[in-house]
Amino acid sequence: MKINKPPMGWNSWNTFAENIDEKLILDSANALIDTGLAAAGYNYVVIDDCWALKERDKNGKLVADPKKFPHGMKALADKIHEKGLKFGMYSCSGRMTCAGYPSSMDREWTDAQTFADWGVDYLKYDYCFKPNTRRGEDLYRAMGLALANCGRDILFSACSWGADKTHEWIRTTGADIWRSTGDIFDNWNSVKSLIEQQFDRLAFGGKGCFNDMDMLITGMRGAGHVGLGGCTDTEYRLHFAAWCMLQSPLMIGCDIRNIDPFTLSLLKNPVLIGIDQDEKCAQTYRIGSETTPILVRALENGDIAIGFFNLSDQSQRGTCMLDELGIGIHSHKTLELTDCWTNEKVYPSNGVIFKNLDAHDCVVYRAKIIEER
Ligand code: GLA
Repeated sequence: MKINKPPMGWNSWNTFAENIDEKLILDSANALIDTGLAAAGYNYVVIDDCWALKERDKNGKLVADPKKFPHGMKALADKIHEKGLKFGMYSCSGRMTCAGYPSSMDREWTDAQTFADWGVDYLKYDYCFKPNTRRGEDLYRAMGLALANCGRDILFSACSWGADKTHEWIRTTGADIWRSTGDIFDNWNSVKSLIEQQFDRLAFGGKGCFNDMDMLITGMRGAGHVGLGGCTDTEYRLHFAAWCMLQSPLMIGCDIRNIDPFTLSLLKNPVLIGIDQDEKCAQTYRIGSETTPILVRALENGDIAIGFFNLSDQSQRGTCMLDELGIGIHSHKTLELTDCWTNEKVYPSNGVIFKNLDAHDCVVYRAKIIEER
C-alpha cells in the first residue's frame, strides 16, 4: 500500500494486552470520535495480539476467539468502517505470536486472504519465535507479496524491532512502516533509550517505509500492560514531541475511553501533528549535544521544524546557530519561530537560538524563514 505519511490511530496492546474484546474495541473506536482524536487524524483502530483461537479451523484458516469477538472480525470491521475509521489486526512471521497464538509463517497467502475478506486495512506483523533456519527478510517478503496480491489495500506494519539488521532489508519487503526499536514501556528510561536508539537509524526512515518508534505511552500514567512506572507530564510531552519530530507513526496506547484533558490536548497538538504528518518526509537530522539533542527537519512549505530536547537529569541550555540550519550569514535571512506549546513567536538573537530547559523538558518550533530585521 502506498502511504505518504505515518499512520495515526489507537492500538490495544500497551494497556490491554490479552484483555480485549469486541466491546472494548468498539468503545475505543467511539472514544476516538467523541474525543475529537479521529478528527485530529487518529483513524486506525488496531487489535494487537491475543485475538485468535489457539487452533485454526478445518480449512486451515485463523479463527477469531468467539468469546472475545462473538460476531466475528468481518462484522467488527464493518462497524468500524461505518464510523469512518479503519481497521487493523495483528499476526506474526514466526512459529507463534509473541503471546503464543497462531501466526502466519508458511500460511501467508491464506492469512492475507482472510484479512482481506474480513476488511482489514492494516496488518502489524511481529517477529517472535522465528526459527534459526529461516531469514527475517524471507518471512517478511512472503507476507509483503501475499498482501500485495490479496485484492485489498492493507498497510503492512513490520515489527521486527530492528533485529537482524532489519534496516538493511526491510525496504525489500514492501513494508510501509518498520519498528526501528524494541518494545516501549511507560517510563522515562524507555522513552529516552528509544529516542537515542533512533539516532543512527534516521537515514533508513521516511517516505516508502517510515521508522516506527512503537506505540505511544502518553496518558498511560503507569496503568495497563506496559505501564511500568509512568512518566511525568513533562516526560510525556517530550515523548510525543520526539515521536513527531522523528516522523514516527502515532498509535495511541492508553485507555482512550478515560483519557485525561492534558493527554488529549497533547495528542491533538496541531503544530506537532503537522510536523509528524508533513508530506515532504525529509530526513530528520541531529545537532546539539548528546544530552541536549536538537532535532531538525525541513518541511514541505519551506518551513523548518526544530526541537530542543533535554534528555539529561539537570537543567540545560540548548544552543543552535542559524548556519547549522543552512541559513548562512550572507543570506540575510532569519527565522520566526512558533513555540508548539504556547504559540508564542520567538526570534533568534545574533544568529543564535537559545533555549533553557529543565530536566526532561523540550520545545519544538515551527520556523518560518523571513528577511533579517
Ligand atoms: C511484541 C511486539 C509488541 C506487541 C507484543 C504482542 O512484543 O513488539 O508491540 O505486539 O509482541 O505479543
